[in-house]
This record gives sequence, C-alpha cells and structure tokens, in this order.
Amino acid sequence: MKRSFKDLIEQTYEFPQTAFSEEDNNLFFHGIDLMQLTRRWGSPLKLTYLPRIGEQIKRSREFFETAMKKCDYQATYLPCYCTKSAHFSHVLEKVLENKSHLEISSSFDTDIIYHLYQEGKLPADAYIICNGYKTEDYIKGIEKLMKAGMQNVIPVLDSMDELKYYENFDLEEVEIGLRMATEESANSEYYSSRFGIQKSKIIPFYKARIEGNPGIKLRMLHFFVYSGMRDNNYYWNEVHNHVKTYTELKSLCSELDSLNIGGGLPVQNTLSFDYDYQKICDELVFLIKNYCNAQGIKEPRLFTEFGSFTVGESGACIFKVLGKKEQNDRETWYILDNSLISTMPDMWARKHRFLMLPVNKWDRAYIPVNLGGLTCDNDDSYSYVSSREQLFLPETTPGEGQPLYIAFFHTGAYQETLSGYDGVHHCLIPSPKHVLIDRDGTGALKYELFREGQQYNDIKDSLGYRD
Ligand SMILES: Cc1ncc(COP(=O)(O)O)c(C=O)c1O
Repeated sequence: MKRSFKDLIEQTYEFPQTAFSEEDNNLFFHGIDLMQLTRRWGSPLKLTYLPRIGEQIKRSREFFETAMKKCDYQATYLPCYCTKSAHFSHVLEKVLENKSHLEISSSFDTDIIYHLYQEGKLPADAYIICNGYKTEDYIKGIEKLMKAGMQNVIPVLDSMDELKYYENFDLEEVEIGLRMATEESANSEYYSSRFGIQKSKIIPFYKARIEGNPGIKLRMLHFFVYSGMRDNNYYWNEVHNHVKTYTELKSLCSELDSLNIGGGLPVQNTLSFDYDYQKICDELVFLIKNYCNAQGIKEPRLFTEFGSFTVGESGACIFKVLGKKEQNDRETWYILDNSLISTMPDMWARKHRFLMLPVNKWDRAYIPVNLGGLTCDNDDSYSYVSSREQLFLPETTPGEGQPLYIAFFHTGAYQETLSGYDGVHHCLIPSPKHVLIDRDGTGALKYELFREGQQYNDIKDSLGYRD
C-alpha cells in the first residue's frame, strides 16, 4: 500500500507544530481551516494573519530581555519595525499596537509617519530611525517630523556628506546616528558593504565634524550584517568589530548611548527549521556586555530593526492546481492558477525557500512534483530545493472532483515591495485577492477582504488603453 502524504509528513517531521496542524485531511494554519477559507474566498488567495505580527514582536522582546536578565545587562532593549518589509497600514497598526518603534528608508516613509503622528496613532516619543540614502525630499521629511514635535527621530548617516543637511536644520539640536559599513562575507563580489561609513573613517570623522559641533549630538552607532544573524565566524567577527568601534567612540563621546544591530532574525522556511533564537540573542547580548565592560564602558541601549521576523510569518498564498503535465517519465508538473514569480519574487530572484504544504487531500499517496506558475517565464517555477530534497505533494488528477490546493507560508515580508502591489505583472496575470484575518477580544477569528483580485479594468489605464 502506498503511503499517504500525511504519513510522509508525520514520519519525517515533528508534526503538528504551533502554526500547522491537520484535520480530516485538510491543513490548518494557526487554527484556521484553510480549505474552508478557500471555499469562501476562492483561489488564488493571499492572506495576512495579523496576530502573528504582535506575537513576533513579543517574542523578540522576550529573547532580548531574557538574555539581558541572564547577564545583568544595564540598559534597555528597543525593538523597531523595518517598514520596508511591508508598508501596509494593517501591518503598521499591529506594530504600533505592540509598542514597537520604527525604522524607515525613504521620503514617502516620512509622509506615512507624519500622517500616523497627526492621527494620534504614533506617540511623540516613538523612535523613528531614518536609514538609507538621503534624497532632498527625504531630508525635508525628516525635518518636518522633528518640527512637528516627534522627539526621537534619529537620522542615521549613510555617508559623511549627509551631516551638512542636519547642520542646516532650523532646529537647536539634531540627534544623529552613524552607520558603520560591514565587511562583506567571503562569497560576496564586494569587500565592503556600500551602506554606511567605512570603519577606518568613523573616529576621524567624529573628531573632525561632530565633536564640539553645537547643533549635533551623536547618539547611535548602527550596523547591519546583510546575511542575517547566523551563528558563524563571519557574523560574530562583524559584531565584534562594531562593538569595538562603539567603545572607541563612546570613550570620546559621552552622549553616545545606543547600538543598533539592524535586522536579520530568520523566519521558519521548512517544517524542519531549527534555529535557536534564544541562544543567538544570548550570545549577542553577552558579547556586547562583556566587551564593553572589559573596556570600562557602560553597555549601550540595544536597538533592532527586524523586518522579516516581524511580518514574514503572518503571510501566506494559496493556489489551486489547475493542470498536470507529465513531461517525461521523471518530471511531473502541477500548474498553478497564478504566477509564483509575481507573488513571491524572492523565490526566483534570491532562490529563497518558502514553506509549502497541500491544503487538502492529505490522505492521498504522494508523488514528486515540480510547480509551474501561469506565466511563460521559465523561472516561474518551484521544484526541488536541494539535491537531497524533492518536492512531494498528494497525487491528483485535475477534473476528478475537488481540486488540490497548495499553500506557501511565511510570505509576509518583502514580496509586495519587490513585485509591486496591484500594477502590471508578467503575462498580465492578475494579483490575487487579499484577505486579512484577525482575532477579536474573545479570540474568535475575523475576516476582512482587503483587496479584490485584480480585474482587466484595473490595469488597462496603466497600460495606456482608453475607453
Ligand atoms: C538597515 C536595515 N535594517 C533592517 C533590515 C531588515 O532586515 P530583516 O528583514 O532581515 O530583519 C534591513 C533590510 O534590508 C535593512 O537594510
């Protein structure tokens, strides 16, 4: 007898898990019956499970505060949400409900912050860390936020040239941060990151331009290791270098009191995902505390800017298997009812792996498959993820009755900012319907249609066709 898909999962992984369970051969995500959801809203379907955002902010707080308690860390932890990972108002609302601060990257970001502040949704003392290259509009936006009464707007200098703008602000004093460029990992094409100021220039720049400058107060040293918070020599070496520079700067600048380590906590991308969040936070916090104290320096306030970790696990995309193609005796394709390349651009552009499971038919025998999106692009596909791991799904024959649905999980960060939301996509494949799911005070699920699936009329104007 052939083993079922359910057998495969139960015998290969620890299952059920916090977010995933199975009942009557259908998949549940955080207790949501995805088959029922698909019957109600159809497919393709994008969903955002909003409670996960608050849970993740609480988790990051717990990881860092626990680590700090363990080593008697004498300064606070301040989580910021990196808005570029998902700018949606429903995301920002949850982030602010959970008292997170914000990290922003561009001029329009400052407009959104101004709007939230004017509406009373953002307290005046919320930290707004302004990263990225500063255009004229962005600089104006930063000044506008400061003048409107926001007390903790901190522009982080991406280059030394940027200082002149803040010196000319019509304000008595501007608090700033300096971003220090990381050295890139061994497999990068570059030696140093293009973001931030080179390590060797930080202290001379401070002495020449900031020390004794009456309108400028240096509060923060910032860095971000792009490859993420990985337990490897490269990451720890970078952290060590930045903490060392922090202590050197601090010995010159008594007002400096904050170290910002950027983002980089990962999200679950397989059922066998094994990342010890507490251990990495413990090691990071201990390293900072021990190194600073050994130099006779008080440990800094710690800022983080988690994007993927905060919002990634709130998102999912559900697709229907429209067709099946046997291209040869080894390759079976399931053709999906939307484009993978547009809904999850990281999948092809960065070869990012997302957790994928069938929504129904868990009692069926499983077969190795490749997934094809609706566009004619060869890269609009998802197949094996490593030479050891084949992609398996329940066997199905389209037209046999109820179709097979599949879902990709933890797609909530960056996918819309990379592919665009609405707009014109490859082969004019329409963007899917988008549903928001939340829980009310009693824990009951609430659903809201955020965006209908795209229609022809939604794109024709963008393409210049007039009635
Ligand atoms: C400066 C900065 N901080 C934070 C982040 C968020 O990183 P992640 O999504 O890995 O948490 C980014 C992402 O590019 C970034 O550039």
